[in-house]
Amino acid sequence: MAQTVRAVVAPGRGEKVSLTDIVIPDPGPGEAVVAIAACGVCHTDLHYREGAINDDFPFLLGHEAAGTVDAVGDGVTGVSPGDYVVIAWRAPCGTCRSCRRGRPWYCFASENAAQPMTLTDGTPLSPALGIGAFCDKTLVAASQCVPVDAAARPEAAGLIGCGVMAGYGAAVNTGGVSRGDTVAVIGCGGVGNAAVAGAALAGARTIIAVDVDPRKLDWARGFGATHTVNAKDTDPVEAIKALTGGFGADVVIEAVGRPETYRQAFFARDLAGVLVQVGVPAPDMTIQLPMIELFGRGGALKSSWYGDCLPSRDFPILIDLYLRGKLDLDGFVSETIGLEDIELAFEHMQRGEVLRSVVVL
Ligand SMILES: NC(=O)c1ccc[n+]([C@@H]2O[C@H](COP(=O)([O-])OP(=O)(O)OC[C@H]3O[C@@H](n4cnc5c(N)ncnc54)[C@H](O)[C@@H]3O)[C@@H](O)[C@H]2O)c1
Ligand SMILES: [Zn+2]
Ligand SMILES: [Zn+2]
Repeated sequence: MAQTVRAVVAPGRGEKVSLTDIVIPDPGPGEAVVAIAACGVCHTDLHYREGAINDDFPFLLGHEAAGTVDAVGDGVTGVSPGDYVVIAWRAPCGTCRSCRRGRPWYCFASENAAQPMTLTDGTPLSPALGIGAFCDKTLVAASQCVPVDAAARPEAAGLIGCGVMAGYGAAVNTGGVSRGDTVAVIGCGGVGNAAVAGAALAGARTIIAVDVDPRKLDWARGFGATHTVNAKDTDPVEAIKALTGGFGADVVIEAVGRPETYRQAFFARDLAGVLVQVGVPAPDMTIQLPMIELFGRGGALKSSWYGDCLPSRDFPILIDLYLRGKLDLDGFVSETIGLEDIELAFEHMQRGEVLRSVVVL
């Protein structure tokens, strides 16, 4: 029997979200229905509402969630009803050209539910990042459900599902940060501060956190930043150079998604350094760089989708680090809110008051 549940829907470009009823079909072959326990509010949800991702409105927002498997469809063997899971927006298909080449973390045909969730009038919804978890229950591909230790409270565990994994993985997987590296992170929201935490766990010797908001920089110190730079008062490129013997950092992570911060990241690298872009730009943004600098500085300019993670490998690792007190997921949970508070959470995000507002159901 299809179920009607409450959900947060973005109806059109730039329009406020509304809490409304949606219809969740029974899980078909390979699908699972998950009862959501908690879901973080990521900046990408706001990008969706602004129409900055694509125009496939109406969107069912929310994609950073932990919950319990409610029901599974035919042929599902990986999870069963009652399993405690974090939902991933990457579920490698195993058969696309990237998976076949042994690079499942780039999978070009990641699995999602085949059936649509709909408004009560039958209008199909586009679930954010193939998840859609600001709701009582959601329908996903069963392969998107990654079982994790139930000792991790859902408010914290859910954050692994996007922002924390994206930031941590940008440093550790994409940037390859390792012992002795110097690292700078530009933009220290939930994603950037997870990159700070990842760099610290990987053994970076210098971690420079850059933001325009002193509150974010305070948080960054807590996650392991050795130095902080307020880009409102100080030129971040000069500051990063000054803190790295005049050379620039080995790895610079851009976690804002703007041309000016990308440019700063580009010039704040040491020779042969790595730039990792995590911030999502708007479709109309462009950047100009001198070609001689692109060549002459060497190194690599990379973008990081979801921290190049393999959820089935990486989620349980991050949860173990959390349960051992090595990764402070609780430190990202700035406030807990209800489903009716998403617009308020967007305001808190825009005013810089939170790392994560987390919906608890
Ligand atoms: N690549 C991925 O897989 C992935 C995953 C999740 C989120 N994202 C993207 O990462 C970005 C960050 O997400 P978030 O949830 O942490 O957002 P957020 O709003 O919490 O953080 C953004 C931070 O950037 C800071 N900032 C703004 N302008 C700045 C500037 N000029 N210089 C320095 N800092 C500045 C803000 O003060 C804020 O702390 C977003 O673009 C989001 O869409 C990407
Ligand atoms: Zn996200
Ligand atoms: Zn694939």
